Amino acid sequence: MHIVHIAVEMAPIAKVGGLGDVVTSLSRAVQELNHHVDIILPKYDCLNLSNVKDFQYNRSYSWGDTEIKVWFGKVEGLSVYFLEPQNGFFYKGCIYGCGNDAERFGFFCHAALEFLLQSGFHPDIIHCHDWSSAPVAWLFKDHYVHYGLSKARVVFTIHNLEFGAHSIGKAMTYADKATTVSHTYSKEVAGNPAIASHLYKFHGILNGIDPDIWDPYNDSFIPMSYTSDNVVEGKRAAKQALQKRLGLKTADLPLVGIITRLTHQKGIHLIKHAIWRTLDRNGQVVLLGSAPDPRIQNDFVNLANQLHSSHADRARLCLTYDEPLSHLIYAGADFILVPSIFEPCGLTQLTAMRFGSIPVVRKTGGLYDTVFDVDNDKERAEAQDLEPNGFSFDGADAGGVDYALNRAITAWYEGRDWFNSLCKRVMEQDWSWNRPALDYMELYHAARK
Ligand code: ADP
Ligand code: GLC
Repeated sequence: MHIVHIAVEMAPIAKVGGLGDVVTSLSRAVQELNHHVDIILPKYDCLNLSNVKDFQYNRSYSWGDTEIKVWFGKVEGLSVYFLEPQNGFFYKGCIYGCGNDAERFGFFCHAALEFLLQSGFHPDIIHCHDWSSAPVAWLFKDHYVHYGLSKARVVFTIHNLEFGAHSIGKAMTYADKATTVSHTYSKEVAGNPAIASHLYKFHGILNGIDPDIWDPYNDSFIPMSYTSDNVVEGKRAAKQALQKRLGLKTADLPLVGIITRLTHQKGIHLIKHAIWRTLDRNGQVVLLGSAPDPRIQNDFVNLANQLHSSHADRARLCLTYDEPLSHLIYAGADFILVPSIFEPCGLTQLTAMRFGSIPVVRKTGGLYDTVFDVDNDKERAEAQDLEPNGFSFDGADAGGVDYALNRAITAWYEGRDWFNSLCKRVMEQDWSWNRPALDYMELYHAARK
């Protein structure tokens, strides 16, 4: 089958959040099943081109008054076509936040379909994502379905319903099949007006992570390679490297890591509470995060300064986006905290487990589907052939966080052997695309019936 993704993010060259990870890792998994996958992406001026192999000019075409140059390259083994419209829409130094994003991405979607048509592609599936490439669904049905692309079917994935609900609702009408990124989130949003009348074609398919991209055995950003067999030694080396790098005390203390966009969705007040609670319990905290909203960013800068005077040896807030540092935190932390208010899937808890770090999460969306509390979820885990793998809580208040974090830190202090075996166990769980990629293939086939 030939699948074309039309997307505005792709890890590691144009990543803002999990959407970028999923475009790359889902495509790689489907390609490994011997299907033909292409990706169409805007050619941003801020692309990280050092991660593109064989980058070369491909062709030019016109759409309306605009000439569009097409570039081609390989990213993580995937074929990527980069569209560079000469109207400068993607010369903005950033992916989002340009004031006219809807216009820029709407243009990109139309240009991408035009590229497929003019270049003689005959994909079986055109897969678009979130509000930013939602226009593909209706532009395709309005303008292209009767032409050379007629055999294609459109699959639309909602990664986050919070943004662009109007466009998402419209794409839901036009798409042949639609998905969101976990089963529980699909139930949580089922009553939303954008979705409610389309449930017959709407499915929850859990995201996976790419086990080759996130692999503590083969990771140049951590000091010692490890597997589940030497997880204790590997994580000890990573923790020490992290502590040294950030100027924290190099002591054997429970270390809570947080890697996140700092937005309302991620539970800002719970994150702040957890930082103080961890310090009260004689732990260390490392937060890596950046806030698109300058007020939130400022707030965290103030908190970072405050912590610097009161707890310089045990807390560090790194208020930036830093991929290499994220690897060292996943490896060096004992716990990765994800106290989201809502979370369609969440990838950080899955990546944490790949590095043998224990997730501490709020029970919502994909966090609920992937983290099974060691004290409360044994049966629910068993029903999925899994063993419990973390700590979780319900409430969106301080008491909720305390309930999970206190148990987690106590387990670290009072049951090190048990805790170490938990780290080994979570590393051995499979949160890759092995299963979900097959679910997507089944969906693609169903879309074509
Ligand atoms: P979302 O897409 O809602 O931000 P996900 O958990 O799906 O949440 O994905 C977030 C991705 O972005 C993960 O791969 C995570 O490691 C990464 N990430 C988030 N914040 C940062 C940061 N400040 N620096 C580096 N990577 C980050
Ligand atoms: C969104 C969601 C996140 C999900 C990611 C990838 O950004 O917020 O929960 O993991 O998309 O699907």
